[in-house]
Amino acid sequence: MDAIRTITTGFLGLGNIGAGVWRLLDEMGEEIAAREGVRFRVKKALVRDTLKRRDVSAPPSVLTASADDVLDDPDIELVVEALGGEQPAAEYIRRALTSGKSVVTANKLALATHWQELLETARATGSCLYFEPGVCGAIPVIRTITDSLQANRVERLYGIINGTTNYILSKMSAPFAGQGSASGATGSRGVSYADALYEAQRLGLAEPDPTADVEGGDAACKLSILSTLAFRAHVPLEGLFRRGITTITPVDVAYGRELGYALKLLAVAKRDGDRVQARVHPTFVPLSHPLASVNGSLNAVYLYGHACGELMLYGRGAGDAPTASAVVSDMIAAVREGCVGGGDAYRMTGKVVMETDWESRYFIRMLAVDRPGVLGAIAGILGRHGVSIASLRQTVGNGRAPLLFVTHIARESDVRAALSEIDESLAAIENVIYVEEGL
Ligand code: HSE
Repeated sequence: MDAIRTITTGFLGLGNIGAGVWRLLDEMGEEIAAREGVRFRVKKALVRDTLKRRDVSAPPSVLTASADDVLDDPDIELVVEALGGEQPAAEYIRRALTSGKSVVTANKLALATHWQELLETARATGSCLYFEPGVCGAIPVIRTITDSLQANRVERLYGIINGTTNYILSKMSAPFAGQGSASGATGSRGVSYADALYEAQRLGLAEPDPTADVEGGDAACKLSILSTLAFRAHVPLEGLFRRGITTITPVDVAYGRELGYALKLLAVAKRDGDRVQARVHPTFVPLSHPLASVNGSLNAVYLYGHACGELMLYGRGAGDAPTASAVVSDMIAAVREGCVGGGDAYRMTGKVVMETDWESRYFIRMLAVDRPGVLGAIAGILGRHGVSIASLRQTVGNGRAPLLFVTHIARESDVRAALSEIDESLAAIENVIYVEEGL
């Protein structure tokens, strides 16, 4: 029988993810040793409170409140970073890589914010940096892009990459689940954003402070990483456009449903030569598209490569066990790949220019003043800015006329300019939502 290697490991953090990894190693350690020829011995685990009771079998001697006990121990070859937050996690990852340790991290914020520095450190020291668990939990999307699509130019990538917001939007769409069409705008509606968020928090899907999820920050970090790898050019976090879901109402969801769309917080990245657009925002997607069926807290990434065509990955993007599944897989990969030259796996081939203007169709909902000439005036303003109306619906309101426009493909800057001219004397703009038809 082949010898089994023992890899001395250090944990930074033993919260939900770290404890999930610990439990999975407890459960699967012997099978992994037999299958993969490697066993992980956790020598030290950084925790905030060494006396706190934990739902893991870690002996007290393993726990430490000092990061140095992990980062400065020459026996520790592999570090699992599961602290979350930008700092001190990013600095700890940098220190571990600098001293030649390989790192597996679940931390998309630290990674997206310090991408260049961490990749360059890994390259310079020959240490490996793995981050599959940081982007869509159990879904092997990083490895798919880097190890299975090398012969492709990836041109477009779409993702539902935040489970919390997908759960909330699915709840807000609940009356229509499974229906081909619905008279939702006039019939039954889903719950409000606030009620859906409350439910997500009660289930532990949303954080007590949900900002990072509901404002699109978490998805933006993941999109920066995904599009950087897909396009092989750094797509910086600060170059992304993002808008969250906090202004979405059941009325928007219901109208969209009537028009044949599901509402998703969609991450969109497109490359055209050296120009890239990357954005995260609420988006209507056609009900016939596979992404429209990704509901609840599930995630999916859908991309086009010039050779592979369309490809979609679907699964659990969060949760202790799904995330631990990706962490342990990366730990094994670090050993199998010899922990050398990790930075090279993510070699960039060029620079791109980030677009600040793009084309889309738009759903525009407004409450217009109900008097002669108002509709004509609004249509005139849109027309003067080159925004062409594809469909229009007016319903009866209470002294105000609810108006719903769907545009043909228009430029973002033109739509913004037109809407800024529509003041209260004509209408109040209630919501503007992107419509992605060309998925
Ligand atoms: N909070 C994230 C989500 C999981 O809801 O998808 C961690 O990135």
